[in-house]
Amino acid sequence: MINYRKINKDESNELSEYHRMRHALWPAHEENDLREEMLKILTGNTFYKNELSWSTFVAEREKGKLCGFIEITLYPKLDFAASMPIGFIEGWYVDEDIRMTGVGRKLVDEAIKWIAAQGCWEIASDVEQHNLISQEAHLRLGFQEAMREDNCIFYKKAIK
Ligand SMILES: CC(C)(COP(=O)(O)OP(=O)(O)OC[C@H]1O[C@@H](n2cnc3c(N)ncnc32)[C@H](O)[C@@H]1OP(=O)(O)O)[C@@H](O)C(=O)NCCC(=O)NCCS
Repeated sequence: MINYRKINKDESNELSEYHRMRHALWPAHEENDLREEMLKILTGNTFYKNELSWSTFVAEREKGKLCGFIEITLYPKLDFAASMPIGFIEGWYVDEDIRMTGVGRKLVDEAIKWIAAQGCWEIASDVEQHNLISQEAHLRLGFQEAMREDNCIFYKKAIK
């Protein structure tokens, strides 16, 4: 049975797993940069744009063995949405062997619970234009296209 919860930043094994999955999601990024970013996220530092905070939820398939994560930020405002503040999915990943079994959806549910508790009523996300699977998954989860810019499609979804 898969367990969904906030990441435990005090478990070194969990941090290795989180780092492994971040590298699988962003293989072109330097491992060290990904690790530094991860540590900033876990210590509550903001570093990216004008985000207010970060949170990470993970899917755990057995003790200490993770199989997915979602990273969410809170922004004071986004150009393509009316709500303020608004939650944004920065990273969403599930290990290949268990994709299409509902793990990604459950991670988004965890993100939505957290965002709602911060007083938001919308969640947003972006997907690269070539990533057709993620686009399909966003639509299946009830996201609607909000804007296209450069190589990205932005989505949003009401959560209340
Ligand atoms: C995108 C991703 C996180 C989805 O995770 P997942 O665990 O497979 O998602 P789920 O099984 O919960 O599926 C969610 C919905 O998307 C649909 N979906 C998922 N993968 C799909 C695929 N390959 N083709 C068509 N639909 C798909 C599912 O059918 C489901 O809809 P349904 O409940 O109506 O059937 C996963 O594919 C992944 O990690 N991809 C690589 C990294 C990535 O691209 N991340 C997103 C960056 S924006």
